[in-house]
Amino acid sequence: MRAIAYFKQNDIHFSSDLPEPRIGADDEVLIDVSWCGVCGTDLHEYLDGPIFMPKDGETNPLSGKQLPQPLGHEFSGVVAEVGPKVTKVKVGDHVVVEASLGCLDTHRWPKTRLSCTQDKPCGACRKGFTNCCEHNGFTGLGVVGGAFAEKVVAGERHCIKVSPDLPLDVAALVEPLSVSWHALRSAGFQKGMTACILGAGPIGLTTIAALKGAGAKKIVVSELAQIRRDFAQSIGAEVFDPTAHGTNAAEVLKKMSGDDDGFDFAFDCSGVKATFDMGLAFTTFHGVCVNVAIWGHKPVDYYPMLVTCKEKILTGSIGYTTLDFESVVNALQNGDIPLDDCKKLISGKYTLEDGWEKGFMQLMHHKDKCIKILLTPNNHGELKSAK
Ligand SMILES: NC(=O)c1ccc[n+]([C@@H]2O[C@H](COP(=O)([O-])OP(=O)(O)OC[C@H]3O[C@@H](n4cnc5c(N)ncnc54)[C@H](O)[C@@H]3O)[C@@H](O)[C@H]2O)c1
Ligand SMILES: [Zn+2]
Ligand SMILES: [Zn+2]
Repeated sequence: MRAIAYFKQNDIHFSSDLPEPRIGADDEVLIDVSWCGVCGTDLHEYLDGPIFMPKDGETNPLSGKQLPQPLGHEFSGVVAEVGPKVTKVKVGDHVVVEASLGCLDTHRWPKTRLSCTQDKPCGACRKGFTNCCEHNGFTGLGVVGGAFAEKVVAGERHCIKVSPDLPLDVAALVEPLSVSWHALRSAGFQKGMTACILGAGPIGLTTIAALKGAGAKKIVVSELAQIRRDFAQSIGAEVFDPTAHGTNAAEVLKKMSGDDDGFDFAFDCSGVKATFDMGLAFTTFHGVCVNVAIWGHKPVDYYPMLVTCKEKILTGSIGYTTLDFESVVNALQNGDIPLDDCKKLISGKYTLEDGWEKGFMQLMHHKDKCIKILLTPNNHGELKSAK
């Protein structure tokens, strides 16, 4: 099978002779991949990894699987084959896949080293917070092979059917959109509220789309890079340059909420001390600061009375569940999240063969110019070159 796989540290490359995945458990689905997006996490595996991927010679504790493994966790495809117990999807259906894996999936892998099982999962899985699973892992990030490949196998419970009318390239964005959707949902964002996003990378931008879908009254984005501010503006956000107003920045931003007291929500999609502090400064009393960013191990200090005196809520959001995927698919299909905005996020579409040079390398060296690059194994649909 043709795929872009993680072979070992600093070695990701295209190969045409990787083993094709097959259905093992009765509730598995074989998917013919249409499009798969290159994510910052994939680049991170190359530059600083292995992070999620098994180390050379080791196996993944959830699945017992080794390297090499195709990368790719943001994807859409067409069902090619289903296991005997699958009822949720059928051959020919268009699907997206909720990529997180945990206790509830261990029955699929005889070589699992976890003591948790589908019948006796960890506390988080038992309570439905599968995104907080103690053993959380991902399709395409070390547990099982991902979708920079011709075929991928997923458990039925992770497959979400999409309408044949939803373009399969846009459907590949459901995964990053679900990261943002989950952040809104878990933090209690409601229609008519105001929000400021800190950072307009791919996740900040999908958060604009999710906020539009959720009926935000006002969406402002604070971003350092002009090119990214322009982009955020092109999909309907008001923008703010955090360097333009010196020590007054938080006050100026606060006024942009349209309310003297500040914004109802801050979504930190940058993860630096400056954005952490800024969010706390421009949110209103009872405002919510949501940390979406992944931080390194360095702690950040802050003055707790900033939270206490205005009864603010400081919270975070990790990953997604199938409910977020279903909600995003609905929002795309009923027009709440505009398809045109999503299409603008796709900066390039290439074949798997070209994927390392035109996808991975392009994003590593021209991060500011590209948002989302999609790769296809089978040339489903038209390709598009980055400008
Ligand atoms: N919580 C989750 O489940 C989840 C999932 C995926 C990604 N993430 C994380 O979300 C974050 C965003 O991801 P991304 O791919 O968009 O990253 P990115 O690095 O492309 O974007 C970050 C943006 O923040 C901007 N920025 C930096 N300092 C700033 C400042 N002081 N003020 C305003 N903007 C500033 C940068 O210019 C950049 O455009 C990362 O930390 C990523 O690891 C979290
Ligand atoms: Zn990702
Ligand atoms: Zn669990």
